[in-house]
Amino acid sequence: MTTESNQHPPIRSFVLRDGRMTSAQKDALESSWPIHGIDFSKEPLDLHKIFARHAPRILEIGTGMGDATGQMAENHKENDYLAIEVHRPGIGSLMRQIEEKKLSNIRLISHDVVEILKYQLPENSIDCVYIFFPDPWPKKKHHKRRLINSSLLSLIKPVLKKHGRVFIATDWEDYAEQIIEVLGHQADIINLAGNNKYSPRPRWRPMTKFEKRGLNKGHQVFDFALAFKN
Ligand SMILES: C[S@@+](CC[C@H](N)C(=O)[O-])C[C@H]1O[C@@H](n2cnc3c(N)ncnc32)[C@H](O)[C@@H]1O
Repeated sequence: MTTESNQHPPIRSFVLRDGRMTSAQKDALESSWPIHGIDFSKEPLDLHKIFARHAPRILEIGTGMGDATGQMAENHKENDYLAIEVHRPGIGSLMRQIEEKKLSNIRLISHDVVEILKYQLPENSIDCVYIFFPDPWPKKKHHKRRLINSSLLSLIKPVLKKHGRVFIATDWEDYAEQIIEVLGHQADIINLAGNNKYSPRPRWRPMTKFEKRGLNKGHQVFDFALAFKN
């Protein structure tokens, strides 16, 4: 019999590092968390109430230092952005941008996205999901930690609205190939570029440090645009 106590702990796609926060990030986190932060809980959120309007709603998973999020939210004030990140300095950095740019269309949750998708996001509540440059976990023995797999896609499906889209970018060729393989096993997903193909780079996707670093190493960047069959 399997009980809570003898179950294996879940394989997580991140390791919490004790990253240092600058004092500006710490200050921004303290002053802005009550306004822009959402604590994790197992109760579904009322996102209309949280954003105080009905607008296209984007879930960005793994926002890192929030560079893409800050730019997109500034360039697209018509959209609302729900940023998910576990790395505290990253949350602090995005809070700083929110304050500096006076953005009102970003909210943040600092928790494992797997649990957020399972418990906290209501069905049919998100228009688009962005996952840009997920941790590559390059060693073969760590591939099982990669965030994008069929169980993550199965958790995304119910929270996406009809006609919702998932956009992914990675500069790790073997991760891109692994995603193609996962898509091949998911009968309910449509790769909008066509089977086994990559999408063109979306013009609205800002360049981040991770993308620049990949390009400097000579990596190619692979984009995906996906939809679910309803
Ligand atoms: C390589 S960074 C990319 C950051 C950003 N998207 C960019 O392009 O600059 C990936 C981020 O995903 C976050 N992450 C990984 N697994 C996560 C999870 N299960 N839930 C929330 N965040 C996660 C990590 O903490 C890390 O900051």
